Amino acid sequence: MKIAVFSTKSYDRQSLERYNAQFGHDLTFFEPRLSPETAALARGFPGVCIFVNDACNATVIDDLAQHGTKIIATRSAGYNQIDLAAAKRHGIMAARVPAYSPNAVSEFTVALMLTLGRKTHKAYNRTREFNFEIAGLEGFELRDKTVGVFGTGKIGQMVIKNLSGFGCRILAYDKYPSEEAKKYATYVDGPTFARESDIITLHCPLTPETRHILNEETLPYLKDGVFIVNTSRGALLDTDKVIKFLKSGKIGLLAIDVYEEEADYFYRDLSDRVPTNDELARLLTFPNVLVTSHMAFLTDHALRNIAETTLGNFAEFERTGQCANAVSE
Ligand SMILES: NC(=O)c1ccc[n+]([C@@H]2O[C@H](COP(=O)([O-])OP(=O)(O)OC[C@H]3O[C@@H](n4cnc5c(N)ncnc54)[C@H](O)[C@@H]3O)[C@@H](O)[C@H]2O)c1
Repeated sequence: MKIAVFSTKSYDRQSLERYNAQFGHDLTFFEPRLSPETAALARGFPGVCIFVNDACNATVIDDLAQHGTKIIATRSAGYNQIDLAAAKRHGIMAARVPAYSPNAVSEFTVALMLTLGRKTHKAYNRTREFNFEIAGLEGFELRDKTVGVFGTGKIGQMVIKNLSGFGCRILAYDKYPSEEAKKYATYVDGPTFARESDIITLHCPLTPETRHILNEETLPYLKDGVFIVNTSRGALLDTDKVIKFLKSGKIGLLAIDVYEEEADYFYRDLSDRVPTNDELARLLTFPNVLVTSHMAFLTDHALRNIAETTLGNFAEFERTGQCANAVSE
């Protein structure tokens, strides 16, 4: 199939070209994000391949539909960037990679907990400057903590399994409890989860229901000094209110791999520009906040699975008109 690949980074091109040998698609790589301004690049391509920060809204989908696009496949598990109603209206198939490597995101989540928990990022900076002082680098041990895992799907379950070796108490919250998670974690109701978790890690998708799930009303119910980890989607947090609660000390530590307005910033080198986003700039001033740029997925294992599944999604659709990894409203 003739496929336009948007938001191409060197690692995307490398892995897609490598695994395309077995599929034989005709791939054209574009560096820009898909947006109303760049949708014209996809004209005449039946297949469009996107990533998490492409704007696949109704305007873009209308344009794609008018110019022959039949399938939009995202190289991610989350698909909140695709207007599924617009895709349905035009009979365009939307597909994703449901599970390329829950381990990649899970291990990164635990890495964030350990980094902030043991201040290894600060130790690294100190020793680089020949400062071998360790005062101020005291950390905590996970075995003394209660970790709350919100959302126990593929990634949440893996986080629970990975954390089980640390000896911490693990609480879980999900609308659909999983038997696998119950082996290592205890499901509790929302208020107990909020009240008893020292660390809360979010692993639910972004939906109208979960948007700003940690907000001005819910944050006060959390433990004083709570450690929040978000490797799911930025808009699960009301960032403005999170800053307010960081200032008051209610939130003691914050590690985020995702940010509400990341689309304009993440995956770009802006180091020679004046910061224009006050919220992001403020977050980066806190000594107890760690921000990474949506990279929890980025492992060799995950890139291989992403490439093979994405290319397979296009191949299956071309062959049968169906796709086992289709997503709909
Ligand atoms: N940072 C990254 O690089 C990265 C990579 C992959 C995925 N993600 C994010 O991780 C999220 C989770 O991925 P997954 O593969 O585990 O998804 P999944 O679908 O397997 O699991 C999601 C879980 O959340 C639960 N859930 C949904 N709404 C809920 C609610 N309102 N309250 C409680 N639980 C709710 C579901 O029941 C499900 O068990 C994705 O949606 C994506 O946003 C981030």
